[in-house]
Amino acid sequence: MQDLKEKISNEVARRRTFAIISHPDAGKTTMTEKLLLYGGAIRLAGSVKARKAAKHAVSDWMEIEKQRGISVTSSVLQFEYNNFCINILDTPGHQDFSEDTYRTLIAADSAVMLIDGAKGVEEQTIKLFHVCKMRGIPIFTFINKMDRASKDPFELMEEIERVLGIRSYPMNWPIGTDGDFKGVYNRKLSQIELFNGGNHGQTAVSSLKGQVDDPVFADLLGKHYHDRLCEEIELLDMAGDEFDREKVMHGELTPIFFGSAMTNFGVQPFLEEFLNLAPPPGIRTCAKGEIDPESEKFFGFVFKIQANMNPTHRDRIAFIRICSGRFTRGMEVFHVQAGKKVRLSQPQQFMAQERTIVEEAYPGDIIGVFDPGIFSLGDTLTEGDPNIKFDGIPIFPAENFARVTPADSMKRKQFVKGIEQLSQEGAVQVFKQVDIGIESLIVGVVGALQLEVLEHRLKHEYGVDLRIQHLSYRFARWIEGNVDPKTLNLTSSTMIVRDKHERYVLLFENEWSINWALEKNKNLNLTDIANAGNS
Ligand code: G4P
Repeated sequence: MQDLKEKISNEVARRRTFAIISHPDAGKTTMTEKLLLYGGAIRLAGSVKARKAAKHAVSDWMEIEKQRGISVTSSVLQFEYNNFCINILDTPGHQDFSEDTYRTLIAADSAVMLIDGAKGVEEQTIKLFHVCKMRGIPIFTFINKMDRASKDPFELMEEIERVLGIRSYPMNWPIGTDGDFKGVYNRKLSQIELFNGGNHGQTAVSSLKGQVDDPVFADLLGKHYHDRLCEEIELLDMAGDEFDREKVMHGELTPIFFGSAMTNFGVQPFLEEFLNLAPPPGIRTCAKGEIDPESEKFFGFVFKIQANMNPTHRDRIAFIRICSGRFTRGMEVFHVQAGKKVRLSQPQQFMAQERTIVEEAYPGDIIGVFDPGIFSLGDTLTEGDPNIKFDGIPIFPAENFARVTPADSMKRKQFVKGIEQLSQEGAVQVFKQVDIGIESLIVGVVGALQLEVLEHRLKHEYGVDLRIQHLSYRFARWIEGNVDPKTLNLTSSTMIVRDKHERYVLLFENEWSINWALEKNKNLNLTDIANAGNS
């Protein structure tokens, strides 16, 4: 039998765990579908799309999701390609669910940033990019929809640098960006890959390739395109950044790939280069030590909790990212936050089409375990040193606030229970207005649609009809240190609340009033992201 250490080390080396970050409509669903297609996980592209259209789906757990045809919950897709084991952390496509997306990025080892070539860097991408940047993970850029007219590629590079603050290195270069796409030039191989248009979206294809100085390709492209390509390549080689793998690994340089997910152009070369460059699961640093993925002791953390995924079973699943060791079905691990051992029963993995029971899993993998209500976001499960725990999952600042009250005051108990449950899942942030009873709570969410989910789930899971009063606040800021907020000089529209840990938080309507508060109160320090796991 293979030595366990060697087995873990081999499994770690072939794992790639990443998330795709993009603005809605940039083509993430299409891209995911094509990646799965190359991995042979689905016979025909289209299944992920069908899922998005909510015809049949792994992620159709919530009725609201079906009604709207959007993916509210994230899942994980695992497939094999060229002996790599790939985990794509699928994130909700709808912009209103960005907090869930943010959290998923904590479990990823790298990110693929998908940009619509005609639109450039969009709002949602900027927010998600910053979370990746904060973690320092490598970011690979795929500029999509090149089969249509796009922005000038130099302009796109400039925009990435100006808006996101990251240098870029084009791995390939598009030929014809005014709606006359001819293909790309592969800089590493000095090779042209011709785009043959047509509809080959349903099958894996390879394209015609050849050297740039081959007269056949000059002929095929025509003098105009060929000359322009040669000029642009020269400019890039002379004035552009050099490829520096170290910088890529630290998220300081992003390799750019141009292509078109829909027509399947450039997806396979992207996948292969990505697998070659992207890191396997690495060392995770915690306050009290480091987690080496190749250690034989299991270590994992909960990055997502989803209740009632299956309405007929009313189950609650905790998603665990494995950081070290080997997971085996039914194993007993130490739950650091609870201070006791737990058995990880009914472990599930989420394949392209269905949930399956996992027998074993390795660092980089995500498993979902049945949670009888004992886990919270950021919890650590380990076979190793019980003093080492994961550093926690950041809370991301809510941008929409509402006052919620049960319509029927007799339902107060269920109301509090439901809100607590959703707060534990990280679906809502809950605040109490200072000096006001708990019949009325203030909830903060990243996206407005989450309020509808809250309303729906309280009604269907706890039998509570909500009264929701939308508030005009847009920013929550935690007060640092020991400052009594009642002594502060604040604008009349600023509200003082406490979070679930009784910390003082100020709710502001706009940035102007935040600045006003800081200017008028020299002793005031505010912070926008609290740390759930450490608090
Ligand atoms: P999302 O998950 O990021 O929200 O995007 P999705 O994949 O659903 O793609 C959004 C739209 O962009 C879809 O068109 C899709 O077909 C199109 N698209 C994706 N990749 C490419 C590409 O490489 N080139 C072009 N030209 N279009 C692309 P739709 O009309 O909204 O949907 P559908 O009718 O095609 O299903």
